[in-house]
Amino acid sequence: MDPFQKIRIDKESNEHMYMQVYKSIVDLIKQGMIKSNEKLPPIRNLADLLGVNNITIVKAYDILEKRGYVYKKVGSGTFVNLIDCYEGFHEPIEGMDSGFDQMDRGQIQIHTDMISFSSATPTPDLFPVEDFKTLLIEILDRDGGSAFGYQESQGYYPLRESLVSYLKQYGINTSSSHIQIITGAQQGIDVISKAFVEHGDVVIVEYPTYTGAIATLKSRGAKIIEVPILSDGIDIGKLEEKIRAYKPKLIYTMPNFQNPTGYSYSNQKKDQLLRLAHKYNVLIVEDDYLSELDFNGYPTTTLKSMDTQDVSIYIKSFSKVFMPGLRLGFLVIPSKLHPQVLAAKHASDISTSGLNQRAFDLYLRKGIWKRHIHFMKKVYEERFEIMTRCLNKYIIPLGVHCSIPQGGLNFWLCLPPGCSSLELYKKCEENNLLILPGSIFSPYEKESPCFRLSIAGVYPNEIETGIKKMSEIISRMISGEDVLSKHPYFPIL
Ligand SMILES: Cc1ncc(COP(=O)(O)O)c(C=O)c1O
Repeated sequence: MDPFQKIRIDKESNEHMYMQVYKSIVDLIKQGMIKSNEKLPPIRNLADLLGVNNITIVKAYDILEKRGYVYKKVGSGTFVNLIDCYEGFHEPIEGMDSGFDQMDRGQIQIHTDMISFSSATPTPDLFPVEDFKTLLIEILDRDGGSAFGYQESQGYYPLRESLVSYLKQYGINTSSSHIQIITGAQQGIDVISKAFVEHGDVVIVEYPTYTGAIATLKSRGAKIIEVPILSDGIDIGKLEEKIRAYKPKLIYTMPNFQNPTGYSYSNQKKDQLLRLAHKYNVLIVEDDYLSELDFNGYPTTTLKSMDTQDVSIYIKSFSKVFMPGLRLGFLVIPSKLHPQVLAAKHASDISTSGLNQRAFDLYLRKGIWKRHIHFMKKVYEERFEIMTRCLNKYIIPLGVHCSIPQGGLNFWLCLPPGCSSLELYKKCEENNLLILPGSIFSPYEKESPCFRLSIAGVYPNEIETGIKKMSEIISRMISGEDVLSKHPYFPIL
């Protein structure tokens, strides 16, 4: 029997018909009555079968796609996703959306009286504005209009040379021909995806992972497989299983101070990851957005510095220790892969701003970056220590789990079983506190008891006030005194 004939729609129900169709199809998938890669009926056929209009089916298919149950192939139809994509998937709590609608992938409205633990971006008072002003004047006097012309797509040559010396200090030996300048690490993820990921290709990510990578990979039509990250790095056993099962194109990883968990891979795990990539011929994409911020002398060795087989692309962002608005980063790429990356970069924006590249080149050559990193480390270290003290004093005793990282900007906390971080997010938001709920760090918006707190956007004097208030909210949630209000306030984004 055609499984879709089992679907019953109750037109008198208060539940929207598209939700009824959506839920019925999810049930059919979960019961194994529709299999991975099986095609769903064309919209009109299913609408006729169920006696509803086409829009109802379109909406149901859209939600199935958004939640990772199906994927669409232009011109061919809608297909059931790999079962693994929603392994462990939990439906969002009734009456609450997933949190994406408010946060729109990292966009969140912050009122001035809010304490924001949500932002991993430095506060503008930390930017080296005066140094930069001097450098810009020097460049304009030196280069005049050339600073404003189109630049070489690979990047301004003197900057690539400066980066070669910069990288030596982090144990990466490379040459300027392997460096590709990018307009921020986010563009790096995007051009790599453009170059190597085709619709339907499998990409492995850590679970949880960086929202910007999820957005990019989804936009390429990648099938995203999640492998849990543990406090010493990705679960290597599970990773090998998934590599064997799905033959991924890429593994996207943040080996140092991972976003959102703050966890770092042990050197042993870094080594195991490189070996697996070599053994199964999978490309690793290492996103190094923060390795400078080690606070306890923790070894933040990059994978790239250990990569003797050239199986990885290294992405470097300067946004967290310099100025995010400069939109500058770079890649170190195995030479055989560079032509594809260069073509993707050219297709994206032709070249990164010449003025910014020149200014950053001088910034490196004059050694100003060393002074600034030292300053940023001191600022963040103070916040990190206050946060660690406050979590130990107010939050962890409530039964909330947190494995304190060795550095970086993020802390990953998990509420006791049965508590929802989305509910906590909403309660906090009603109390002028911002956190990020765990669901946004999964492509499948998995409901999660975990949430991220970041120290980048809070001042030292706000941390204790905010964490104390949060502990009261959590305490009420755990004791069941505080049920979610029926009409919570949602920020307009
Ligand atoms: C892990 C990770 N990668 C990349 C980026 C984007 O960096 P950029 O500002 O250099 O584009 C971020 C920004 O928060 C991030 O957290």
